[in-house]
Order: sequence, then C-alpha cells, then structure tokens
Amino acid sequence: MKWTPDSWQKFPFKHQPVYPDDTKVQKVLAQLQKLPPLIFTGEIDSLEDQIAQAGQGQRFILQGGDCAERFIDCNEKAIKSKLKILLQMSVILTYGARVPVTRIGRIAGQYAKPRSEEFETSGEIRIPSYKGDLINGYEPSADSRMPDPERLLQGYFYAGTTLNYIRAMLKGGFADLHNPFQWNLHEIEKTSKWPEYKAFLNRILDSIDFIEALANTPIATLNTVDFFTAHEGLVLNYEQALTRSTRQDFYNAGAHMLWIGERTRQLDGAHVEYFRGIRNPIGIKIGSLAAAETITELLKKLNPSNKWGRIVLITRFGANKVKNTLPRIIEAILQENLRVTWCCDPMHGNTIQSWDGQKTRNFQAIQSEISQTFDIHREMGSYLGGIHFELTGENVSECLGGAINLRDQDLQRNYQTWCDPRLNYAQSLEMAFLLAQKLKGGNV
Ligand code: PEP
Ligand code: CO
Repeated sequence: MKWTPDSWQKFPFKHQPVYPDDTKVQKVLAQLQKLPPLIFTGEIDSLEDQIAQAGQGQRFILQGGDCAERFIDCNEKAIKSKLKILLQMSVILTYGARVPVTRIGRIAGQYAKPRSEEFETSGEIRIPSYKGDLINGYEPSADSRMPDPERLLQGYFYAGTTLNYIRAMLKGGFADLHNPFQWNLHEIEKTSKWPEYKAFLNRILDSIDFIEALANTPIATLNTVDFFTAHEGLVLNYEQALTRSTRQDFYNAGAHMLWIGERTRQLDGAHVEYFRGIRNPIGIKIGSLAAAETITELLKKLNPSNKWGRIVLITRFGANKVKNTLPRIIEAILQENLRVTWCCDPMHGNTIQSWDGQKTRNFQAIQSEISQTFDIHREMGSYLGGIHFELTGENVSECLGGAINLRDQDLQRNYQTWCDPRLNYAQSLEMAFLLAQKLKGGNV
C-alpha cells in the first residue's frame, strides 16, 4: 500500500490524545506544517551513517536524557547540565571503547508519554493521567489534565529553543575538553570509589595531552562535536505535521532520530505505518514479552532493504529477564541476517517501587542488565552498539544506590521527575566509568 504522511490514520492507533474540540486541533496542525524544519536532512543522513558504523562495531552510541522532558526544562541550567553529562560520559566511553562515540539526547522534543493507566486518583478525585507536556498539564486537576492542542505548538517552539541553545553552546566551545567546567565532578568526589575513578579520569586526560603533543595541535577542541536529538514518536498528528519531503524522500524534521515505544510497536498499527515512510533512523524498543518472530517481521517491514543504520533495536528486558530473552532474539536476527544496531536500555525493565510507593530504580540492577547484555552479545558474536539511559545532569534523588549510596529514605530529598526515575549526575558519571571498564575488556 502506498505510504503518505497521513496513511497511518487508516490503521488502529493507541495512546493518542482525544481533544475536546477538533477544529482547534486542525488549526494548530496547519500552523505546525508551515513552520520551518528543526533539523536539516543532511544531519539526519549523517546520523544514519554513524548508526551504521555502530552496528558494525566501529562506533558506540550514547543515548540519554529525561524520561519526560518538561517545558520548564527549557532553561539554561537544565540544558547545560544535560549536555555536560552526556559530553563527559561520551569522552569516558570513547576511552573505554576505543571507537568514536555518537551522542543522541532524549531532548528537544521528548514531551509525550504513553501511560499504562488512563486514569489516576488524586486525593478524592479521579483524573486522566499526565501524558507529557505535549499533551496535558502535570497539575492534578481535571482542567489541567484535559488534552490541549495549543501544547503541540508550544512543544515545537520549546524544542526549537532547546536545540538552538545546544547548537550555540557547541559552536561556542562548551565541549572544549580543556574547559575546566567540564571536569568539575561534584558529588562523586566525596565517595570512597573516587580514587579509582580519578585514576581512570587522569589516564584519559593524560592520553589527550599525549596525543596533542604527538600531533602538535590541540585535539581538545571538540567544538565541532556532533550532537543529535531524539524522542519517542508518539503523537502521530504532531509527527505528521513535522514531516517534510525532499525530492526523493520524506523526513521527520522534528528530530534526528525517532523511536517507537514498547507500547505502540504493533505490526499492523498506526505507528509502524507512519515510521515505515520516514527516512530518519528509527529506534524500536522491545520488552521481555516480545516474540522473536514479531521482531523479525517488524524489522522487515521497517527496513525492507535491510540497510545498516536504519534501525536501532533497543532492548529493555530487566536484569532478571535478559538472560532468558535476549539470546533467542539475537539468534532469530542473526539467522535471517537482519541488520540492526543493538542498543541496551537498562532502565525500563528495572523500574521498582520504593518502600513508600515511589517509582525508582536500582543502580545495581541497571549495571547488571548492561553487563549481562554485553556478555550475551559477545558470546553470540553480535555487537552491542549503544546504550540508552534516562538521566539528568542535576543532583536529583530518583534512583537508588551507586557510589553515592542513595537510599530509600533519600528519595524525597530531590525527587523531580514527572515520569520515570533518572540517574543523577554522579550516578551517570559512575555508570560511564563502569561501562568504559567493561568496554575496555573488548566489546566483540
Ligand atoms: C521511555 O523510553 O520512556 C519509554 C516509555 O520506554 P518503553 O517504550 O521502552 O517502555
Ligand atoms: Co521512561
């Protein structure tokens, strides 16, 4: 069947907002359609090349950011600290992996969330769940939870402003490795693990000095560093309105990469229909209930020419399930010679509740899923090409454990997320050190 940007509308869809007034929605969508692209197609093609390399062991992908990015996160401090942690982690990972690292933020558009529960109870009242700032408000009232189409337009502008600041910082030298702001490591310096990490960090900085001396030129000016954006392509009306055509192809101009969530990857569903027609690289999240055959079908549908760089397959099984789930998926994919770039999301299979019912995750479970995923790929002769985190550069208290030893009773201190818990600055940095050590042992 012929694909068009709106052909998804004939397929069954899930997790789409239902608005009280359709004329307003159509007006906003028409406005969005006329606005300029946020992303230029050349950048999208370049990301595809990098993902292709990562699929074949010549690169590693670091993807990370908020679970639900909020409009209020469009501020200097939040954007800067997120960019900083991703840059630092990428330098550490480059040292470990000995291949270039591609940075992809869950940023500048990660505003919509699929929710397992349609409703929640707040005090005495039953109200619709919060579905991300692109759809409704977080404030627990019936009014604020009503989907508002104006938010689609706001989302575009917040994404554009966020992206503009990221581009300005990178162009202006923020990523310079000699920038002292880069290596101000805060909380982690107070922990007992610090001497170990410090030695590792010193080796990295020393290597940079050595190469600069050898090349007789500063290589530390990473100010042409690439940084890509990604979000879950959930609200299809919005994604359709941001779809632009070139002479040959259709691109989604709202992000470099989009992914399909675990809840919306039905083979005959609207999301898969939309995604099959865009040229952007596509992430597919898969959970522990995924049947190997469904995944191979999905890959054939979304990547019929079996091209490297088109698909990032993001596994999110959980530390307890990865051993029984991942091998059969890898086997099916190897058997059919389907080209994917494997990525591990160690967050979404490891969500638990704290003793007082707060959503949290354990540092150790996250680390364990990563470690097992590496080992399984290595044993089976496939290559883990990337990692996908929910993280923030700020000192929040949302995930348990790590060298900073965050405990249940600490969660209340600075629990900020409106959706899933994120690794904080120190925990993210520590994860990068551990991952780099693992990568150093050889990824293939
Ligand atoms: C997410 O990435 O925040 C998310 C909802 O993930 P998943 O689709 O894997 O559950
Ligand atoms: Co999440």
